[in-house]
Amino acid sequence: MRLLVTGGCGFIGSNFIRYVLGEHPEDEVLNLDKLTYAGNPLNLRDVEKDPRYQFQRGDICEEEDVRKAFRWKPDAVVNFAAETHVDRSISDPEAFVRTDVLGTLRLLRVSLEAGVRYVQISTDEVYGSIEEGSFTEESPLRPNSPYAASKASADLLVRSFVRTYGLDAVIVRSSNNYGPYQYPEKVIPLFVTNLLEGRKVPLYGEGRNVRDWLYVEDNCRAIDLVLRRGESGGVYNVGAGQEMTNLELARAILALLGKGEECIQHVPDRPGHDLRYSVDSTRVRSMGWEPRYDFRSGLRETVRWYRENEGWWKPIKSGEFREYYLKRYGDV
Ligand code: NAD
Ligand code: TYD
Repeated sequence: MRLLVTGGCGFIGSNFIRYVLGEHPEDEVLNLDKLTYAGNPLNLRDVEKDPRYQFQRGDICEEEDVRKAFRWKPDAVVNFAAETHVDRSISDPEAFVRTDVLGTLRLLRVSLEAGVRYVQISTDEVYGSIEEGSFTEESPLRPNSPYAASKASADLLVRSFVRTYGLDAVIVRSSNNYGPYQYPEKVIPLFVTNLLEGRKVPLYGEGRNVRDWLYVEDNCRAIDLVLRRGESGGVYNVGAGQEMTNLELARAILALLGKGEECIQHVPDRPGHDLRYSVDSTRVRSMGWEPRYDFRSGLRETVRWYRENEGWWKPIKSGEFREYYLKRYGDV
């Protein structure tokens, strides 16, 4: 299969490309990435020399960049490209609408014209918050942050392309991912690297919000399955069933790094902070998928990776990220 992967220099995209090249010796990948602050070519340094891998720097919103990528004649498109951080969406929502909505529309139009299968990488955040129980794929979309609203808008566009034009498209909505190569603005790598640097961890509010933590490789396996076997027009939730509060998460990280509660710094809560995300993954599980990592083993692996790859995250934390961090968290 010839796969056009967009946003492949980010966290999940780079793990997905590594996964596909490892699992499918016949597959080839073209990675189209704009290289925003979150895109890092170092995430794929180990596959760069693989003759089955190619990189094109480009923007999914730009017609010419997308058309150029399609001249490579992919069999399918997997769209990871997006602005992804909720806190950034609160301060700059426009960038999210541009890439997550208009960029998706651009890819949908060209995919339809080329007659290729389209996979939209979405998120459980499109459903909004749920106090009890879990959302199924039929639950209404009630996004609460500008990030979630832009991702939900993209999902609705995908749905409309299936219904109106008969595009062969599927949507994957996963819960929070963690693992190697995640940009340190997200909570797990932020907490782990802060502790490795001798700083505290900034916990929003009381730390009562609940997330379901999915190891990135498990998500890549689910995406790969849906790409190859998902029913056209189908939506697939992917959750690990490993829910915990942010306080429990912080304590688990502290314990692995041999630190105490005094390293938790409570900071003001995020506006509109969703209390709990939870999805019902029966559909993808009935296709034979299940997570292979429990939270303990996944977190241990993640902490090991950040310990052993200071050369990856230290330049990020002292570069672009530093100003953002100081403005947001002060000297925490
Ligand atoms: P990320 O922020 O680490 O990476 C995003 C990538 O997209 C970067 O490489 C960036 O350079 C690229 N990009 C951004 N704008 C672009 C544009 N206009 N054109 C081309 N490339 C562009 O993101 P991630 O955490 O790997 O998330 C990937 C996808 O998975 C996103 O669509 C996100 O909504 C979804 N998702 C993420 C999570 C999670 O926990 N990280 C959970 C569920 C769903
Ligand atoms: P995050 O990694 O930003 O993912 P999302 O908002 O997409 O779920 O945040 C995960 C949880 O951690 C969320 O409830 C907010 C919380 N959080 C903190 O407590 N402190 C932080 O510094 C960050 C970035 C997040």
